[in-house]
Amino acid sequence: MRSPTEFTAWKALTEHQKEMASVNIASLFANDPQRAIKYTTDAAGWTLDYAKNRASDKTLSLLIDLVKEAGLENAIQKMFSGEHLNSTEDRSVLHVALRASQAQKSLIVDGVDVLAEVRATLKQMETFVKQLHSGEWKGYTGKRITDVVSIGIGGSYLGPKVVTEALTPYKKDDITVHFVANIDGSDISGKLKRLNPETTVFVISSKTFGTLETLSNANAARDWFLGNGGSQDNVSKHFAAVSSNVKKAVDFGMAEENIFPMWDWVGGRYSLWSAIGLPIAIAVGMDNFYELLDGAHQMDEHFRTAPFEKNLPVIMGALGVWYINFHNAQTHALIPYDHYLRAMPAHIQQLDMESNGKSTLLNGDGVTNDTGPIIWGGAGTNGQHAYHQLLHQGTRLVPVDFIAPLTSHNPIGEHHAHLFANCLSQSQALMVGKSLEQAKQELRDTGATPEQVDVVAPHKVIPGNRPSNTLLTNKMTPATVGALIALYEHRTFVQGTVWGINSFDQWGVELGKVLGTDIYNRLVSDSDNSVLDTSTQALIDAFKKAQA
Ligand code: F6P
Repeated sequence: MRSPTEFTAWKALTEHQKEMASVNIASLFANDPQRAIKYTTDAAGWTLDYAKNRASDKTLSLLIDLVKEAGLENAIQKMFSGEHLNSTEDRSVLHVALRASQAQKSLIVDGVDVLAEVRATLKQMETFVKQLHSGEWKGYTGKRITDVVSIGIGGSYLGPKVVTEALTPYKKDDITVHFVANIDGSDISGKLKRLNPETTVFVISSKTFGTLETLSNANAARDWFLGNGGSQDNVSKHFAAVSSNVKKAVDFGMAEENIFPMWDWVGGRYSLWSAIGLPIAIAVGMDNFYELLDGAHQMDEHFRTAPFEKNLPVIMGALGVWYINFHNAQTHALIPYDHYLRAMPAHIQQLDMESNGKSTLLNGDGVTNDTGPIIWGGAGTNGQHAYHQLLHQGTRLVPVDFIAPLTSHNPIGEHHAHLFANCLSQSQALMVGKSLEQAKQELRDTGATPEQVDVVAPHKVIPGNRPSNTLLTNKMTPATVGALIALYEHRTFVQGTVWGINSFDQWGVELGKVLGTDIYNRLVSDSDNSVLDTSTQALIDAFKKAQA
């Protein structure tokens, strides 16, 4: 296996970057009236306009050469057929199987038909969701359920939470879904305060059923239930689990029929499509959950079959590589102009940074190039009054994805036209900027003196030539939300494949967990801490003193 820096296309891109250094995006438009049309492509209800990039036809052609040289075609085929792409854990990577179409009859992986298991679990979810909404499922005093609390963390939390929020207009009125993740007691106590144990069901989502935060919160929820009228015999009426560790869930008090399976071929951050998505299905109903899966499947099919030149995840992934590795971009911003999508950057941050925050090639050698960027962002227009200043005039190159629906679920007054106008104006301003002469003229027009013009004008210069993609959809629906998240999943995969890393393990988070247990033991005992560094010793002492 070779480092990507040894690829012919990588070397060609290194040379090409020098040619492009003096090229301005605006001039690319001026030289090619067809640019916007040529650099727009669509799939699964989304249109990607990638014309506002520092990229020429040659750039794109070299980037496509790069992904091909990295073996992307083969990697896609391996993922969809269930080969053990997650080599360090010897597992398949099959989140795409969770949303496979009904037309596909089976998918045998390691001797098991995974589609049969997926469909049986969907049926089990259907029954559960129906019983909750119909009122057939009753709490221990015979009342119908009004609230469901999802307890989980990481992939067992963010995806379901973000999608539930994104689908707010589709929420059912009869049941409110809440999310608890943090081990900080303020999270769960804030939620429990407003709930009634007679009418609340907890869904404990943990692939391993061994995650400290989730188990601590699950125990706190059970203590609250038992301390407020519930009994151990009734725990099974108020607690369900999504886990691959059935034994641990049964030991907790769940009835086996209320335990929804998880499989080792689904990574946590790719799991919202599985029973980990149960809170979504409860919030918006099973029909909408199926639409979400269908939207993701449409994007899967596009990714699997479309030519790379027209393939949204490939284009976005390759352009990301262009900025990270050839323009030294350290971060990538996601800015949805949609209130309901405001938390989406946090999910994609987890998806991408846990997947591609790696420094080791698949063969065990160290990488010699940068890998996953820092993903960040937030809703527009709010960010315009916060961090956009740095995007426009800061020293760093930050490629941006603008994401916007063409129509609103809440069309009041001129709000949506203003929202959309702001989205377009930001990408335009990033690209065109403002020259020193323009800044000077602007000041002269306001009557500034020549001295004032000279002093202030440089501060008003906006360099421009800053790249962005714009992703548009007609409306945020379960299907388009599903397709959007699948798009980012595959974009992550494209980049991980180019870099030759394993995007599907997460060994990096383990050390902190092990040390966390050691420190916890020291906080609650009189252990000799002199083996620790003096900073950690002093911080432990501060905690102990405050508890005394
Ligand atoms: O610590 C990281 C992680 O392993 C994630 O990958 C995972 O989604 C999360 O913890 C929660 O794990 P579990 O579902 O097993 O509780």
